[in-house]
Amino acid sequence: MSDVTKELLDETQGYVEQAKAKAAKAKKPWQTWLDAEWGFRNHWYPASLSRDLGEGDSKGIELLGEEILVTRQEGKIRALEDRCPHRGIRFSSRPLFYTKETLTCWYHTWTFDIEDGNLRTILSSPDSKMIGKCSLKVYPVEERKGVIFIFVGDIEPPPLHYDVAPGFLDDNAVVYCAEPYDINSNWRLGCENGYDPGHQFIHNWSEMCINAGMHTSYGYTSTKEDVLDTTRYVELEDGPKGFTRKVEKTTFRHEASIPLKDGSKKDLMLPLARGKSKEELDQLTAIIRLGTVGLWMPASLKVTTFPAPHCTHYEFYVPKNKDEHTYFQFGVIHTDDEEEAERWLGEDGRIMWEVPAVQGFTVDDAFAREQMHKYYAEEDGWQRERLFQPDVELTMWRQFASRHARGIQTEDHSRGYFKRD
Ligand SMILES: [Fe+2]
Repeated sequence: MSDVTKELLDETQGYVEQAKAKAAKAKKPWQTWLDAEWGFRNHWYPASLSRDLGEGDSKGIELLGEEILVTRQEGKIRALEDRCPHRGIRFSSRPLFYTKETLTCWYHTWTFDIEDGNLRTILSSPDSKMIGKCSLKVYPVEERKGVIFIFVGDIEPPPLHYDVAPGFLDDNAVVYCAEPYDINSNWRLGCENGYDPGHQFIHNWSEMCINAGMHTSYGYTSTKEDVLDTTRYVELEDGPKGFTRKVEKTTFRHEASIPLKDGSKKDLMLPLARGKSKEELDQLTAIIRLGTVGLWMPASLKVTTFPAPHCTHYEFYVPKNKDEHTYFQFGVIHTDDEEEAERWLGEDGRIMWEVPAVQGFTVDDAFAREQMHKYYAEEDGWQRERLFQPDVELTMWRQFASRHARGIQTEDHSRGYFKRD
């Protein structure tokens, strides 16, 4: 290497070190959130839809980096570690259920009890000393409202409803389930995107808004007083934990301008707001103002009156691993009328919720999260981000979540270092 090159390299390196040190020095009061790249451990998460797992079916899923085999045998869902203790084979790549009680490894015939995970026999060596001495991890499972929930952790699981936003599990809640899909972004960016008052601008491109002729905004803004006034914390010992914001006091800015060098300015107005009176604009956003948006532990969002006044939208950003999350979305109405419930699970839910909300709206959120992932995953975004006033609500959530997390998932957990009994 020439002296000149070395000198140039040293100079560059010096700058990099300085910049990194500066970023790292900024202490954050939401450290637990920063540490939770793989998710919060010791919580319940949606893992699959009931309808995607018929009798005798099985599939391999990834939850917080842990590979899990989920199966339905004699009507009951079982979730087992998808890793043979013998030599690590993934059972799900060729699942073998010779009986309704057992899972057999397709490589060397080790056969496990699906209820307690213990090695019951080895087909090729029924006298092996290993029998009864090793086991798979068995995950607690609950199947409710057409959703299979799995508890990922080591502690005695708390009741499921502690980890599901209020209303979802109510007896008269009718839950329309959209097909979940994977998004190439860390799960925390999902939580933050869903709640972020500043992100409304992206919904100018959302088909739902375009079809409804509804301008959104250049981003909601609220004063600090209004944020405090409209935010409600729910931190009961024996129930779900989360916080909600009423949208009513939010300012929808649909006009803006860009100052130019010559002292003049370029005026802008959202296309769908043009030519409308203030009354018309107010009327269009009235339904949004009725709503309440809330984030709930461990990783979900609840939006009331969306996209129709009687419908509540729920979504979960389930960590699949550190670089992907599975996006579960549900449209919920509450009714005791059986006919109405049946209609909701059929064409009503599809037309009033799934088509507008899932196909015509949240796809834009999914796109934004993917676009944001690289900065946070590879470029120290969590340290280098420069937040502005509307982001205060995100930092409120980060602190709230840091306070209520029951644990942190780590890469070691994803590699199978956890308790098995
Ligand atoms: Fe959004």
